Amino acid sequence: MGKVIVVTSGKGGVGKTTSAANLGTALALLGKSVVLVDADVGLRNLDIVMGLESRVVYTSMDVIEKECELNKALVRDRRVNGLMLLAASQKNNKDDMQPEHMKAICDNLRTTYDFILVDSPAGIERGFRNASAGADEAIVVTTPDVSAIRDADRIIGLLQNAEIEPINLVINRFSPQLVGNGSMMDQADVLDILNIDLIGVVPEDSGVITSTNRGIPLVYEDGSPGAQAYMRIARRLTGQRIPIPDLEQKGLFSSLLNWFTKNR
Ligand SMILES: Nc1ncnc2c1ncn2[C@@H]1O[C@H](COP(=O)(O)OP(=O)(O)O)[C@@H](O)[C@H]1O
Ligand SMILES: [Mg+2]
Repeated sequence: MGKVIVVTSGKGGVGKTTSAANLGTALALLGKSVVLVDADVGLRNLDIVMGLESRVVYTSMDVIEKECELNKALVRDRRVNGLMLLAASQKNNKDDMQPEHMKAICDNLRTTYDFILVDSPAGIERGFRNASAGADEAIVVTTPDVSAIRDADRIIGLLQNAEIEPINLVINRFSPQLVGNGSMMDQADVLDILNIDLIGVVPEDSGVITSTNRGIPLVYEDGSPGAQAYMRIARRLTGQRIPIPDLEQKGLFSSLLNWFTKNR
């Protein structure tokens, strides 16, 4: 049985779609079978980030409305074995989908695929409820700024209420220069406060923007720091024990800790 992982955040623009696209591709490069599910009904863009938009014929809404079989709605990514995309409908809105619909789709996909990554829309409303309905686990993406962390904290509470676990944190667009040179904190202290596990830190990487525009996920570019970070996270998702490099953490934990001790 495969794992269904919702990629979510609360705040928009923090890198959920980028993370879903890169982690899905990375998992397929590691030999896993993967379906990327775009749950951003009405505002889909995972197909564009994956460079598959011209090949989308059917969407999850067509499956729900029994216009087509689930298998037929999956778009195969020809660049790597075992990677599929299920696009979201552009012409519907989030209320046209029910959480039970998404759960049924995820339950079906997990019988065939190793990983189902569901790209969630921003917010805590219906779109989030739909996206998380079929999830076993969650990846919460945040950027290292106060508003994104606050929204992540809110989402973590909702995921815990829904008994989705583990919840793993990805800190995206990390830039040591922006975070400043706060004295380094023990990782365990910070994660204790956040109460979820850190699965990786993705640096600010200008390659992300180019790769998004070209529809080629960054993980295909071996040398880039962002690609390496996503490959490490994918390996951790498969159960490999790969320590988080110290450099990734520098400065970040003290900022997070300061914020949480002030705001909780
Ligand atoms: N690590 C990164 N470095 C640089 N730019 C990034 C990074 N992650 C995401 N971005 C950019 O941030 C924007 C929002 O990312 P996206 O994945 O669409 O966020 P979300 O799905 O959470 O709304 C995009 O323009 C993307 O290219
Ligand atoms: Mg998105």
